[in-house]
Amino acid sequence: MLEISGSILKGDIHSQQNLDSIQADPIFAKRFINYLFTVHTMIRASVPLMHVAYKKCLQLEHDPLVSSLLLYYETHIEEERDHDEWLLDDFEVIGIPRREILSRRPSLAVAELVGSQYYWTYHWHPVSLLGYIAVMEGYPPKKEDIIYLQKRTGFSDKAFRTLSKHSFLDPRHRDDMNDLLNSLPLNPDQEEWITLNALYTADRVREIIKY
Ligand SMILES: [Fe+2]
Ligand SMILES: [Fe+2]
Repeated sequence: MLEISGSILKGDIHSQQNLDSIQADPIFAKRFINYLFTVHTMIRASVPLMHVAYKKCLQLEHDPLVSSLLLYYETHIEEERDHDEWLLDDFEVIGIPRREILSRRPSLAVAELVGSQYYWTYHWHPVSLLGYIAVMEGYPPKKEDIIYLQKRTGFSDKAFRTLSKHSFLDPRHRDDMNDLLNSLPLNPDQEEWITLNALYTADRVREIIKY
C-alpha cells in the first residue's frame, strides 16, 4: 500500500504538449531519488501498521466495527504486501543498492507520523488508522505524471514500476476505502477520529514531501 502522489513532485504545471520537450535534469533526478527514499521510509511501515490494527481488533470485545475492520485489514495486508520491496527493486534499476536505502536514516518527521499511527491504532482504536490510509492511498500517481518524471529524471521506465502499478492499484484501493467508510456503523466520535487523523496525515505528508 501506501504511497504518495507523484504529482507532488511535478513542481510545475505540464501539458501533453510540453511533455515532448522535457529534458533530463540531474538535479531533479537527485530530488526524485530523495522523494522515493522518503516514500520508502513510509511504505515500509504500511503492512506492519495494519498488522498492529488487526491485532488490536482481536482484543476488542462487543465492538460493532470489529468484524468489518478485521476483514478490511486482513485483505489489505495481502494487497500491500512487499510493495516496499518493489520500490527497492526500482532503486536497484537506478543504481542504488537496497542496503544503501535501508541503512539511510529516516527523517524524524516520518518517524513521528508513522509512530503516531502505531500509538493511535494500538492505544486508542484501530479505526483511526483508516484516516491515515485514506490519505496515503487517496492520491495515486497519474500516468502523465509518471511520464513526466521519466523524462525529467532520465531514468529507465523500469525505475517507475512501483509508481506505475500504484497508478492502477490505488484508485481501486481508494474505492474500497470509500465503500468501507460508507458501510461502517461509525458513531460521530469515530467519524471525527478518522477525519482528524486524515487531516493530520495530509498536513504532515505535505511537510515531509516538501523540498
Ligand atoms: Fe494501495
Ligand atoms: Fe501499495
